[in-house]
Amino acid sequence: MALLEVKKLYKSFGGLQAVNNANLTVEEGRAHSIIGPNGAGKSTFLNLIIGNLKPDSGTVVFQGENLVGLEPYDINQKGVVRVFQSPSVYSDMTLLENTTISALAKRDGKFSLNFFQHPKKRKDAIAVAEEALDNVDLLDKAHEEASNLSYGDKRRLELAICLAQKPKLLLLDEPTAGMSQAETQSTIDLLKRLASKGEMTKVIIEHDMHVVFSLADHITVLHQGTVIADGSPQQVKDDPAVIEAYLGGVEEL
Ligand SMILES: Nc1ncnc2c1ncn2[C@@H]1O[C@H](COP(=O)(O)OP(=O)(O)OP(=O)(O)O)[C@@H](O)[C@H]1O
Ligand SMILES: [Mg+2]
Repeated sequence: MALLEVKKLYKSFGGLQAVNNANLTVEEGRAHSIIGPNGAGKSTFLNLIIGNLKPDSGTVVFQGENLVGLEPYDINQKGVVRVFQSPSVYSDMTLLENTTISALAKRDGKFSLNFFQHPKKRKDAIAVAEEALDNVDLLDKAHEEASNLSYGDKRRLELAICLAQKPKLLLLDEPTAGMSQAETQSTIDLLKRLASKGEMTKVIIEHDMHVVFSLADHITVLHQGTVIADGSPQQVKDDPAVIEAYLGGVEEL
């Protein structure tokens, strides 16, 4: 069984059909990328999966359970975590405090200050938080205030905050947007390293083809809300419908 199976998903905004009969199968352990020209419906599709938007019709089955109709919080607690949107960074706290709160929120459903009274819980959460920081190469800055971080490091911290929740499915919407070339490259290296660990399934929405082809082992192409291609990076690259969709726009594949 696939980890995530989206079937016949529809979402319109007024007269605009943003997602139009879209299907997606994500196998466990994959680094699965969703690409498509501007306005193709990628972010809308992601928001439908995580419950930020309700589809007009269709199903989003995660681990055999239909998520449609559930609140974003409940979907998150099932292990579906979106990076770079929520949760946010508390800039007056240290990196370790930021990731520890996230680890606790996952464990208990809700952060509660009385965790200070439970040394074991606190120790476990701190261990998870430190591991998450280590995974993004920020452990040496664990006791610095988040407000001191560079833009690239802040994005890494956001990723660590998500990793501290031990996601089963990690969703990233343009993880390298706004980054310098050097930051982009180090983010690719970081995501590759996470991908090679293989315990977590990733869905990456990305504009930057360099990022997509160096990271993804499976690609789904959206165009005008519909899937026009789905397969290995090579299959997708050679697909005439994909070339047409991109050449029809201004982007190069
Ligand atoms: N809340 C909304 N209300 C009205 N229209 C919307 C809304 N969200 C998205 N749209 C429209 O739906 C279409 C798909 O948008 P979406 O943001 O999902 O595309 P995208 O593939 O993520 O684009 P980009 O590559 O620019 O991020 C666009 O035409 C967009 O203008
Ligand atoms: Mg988008």
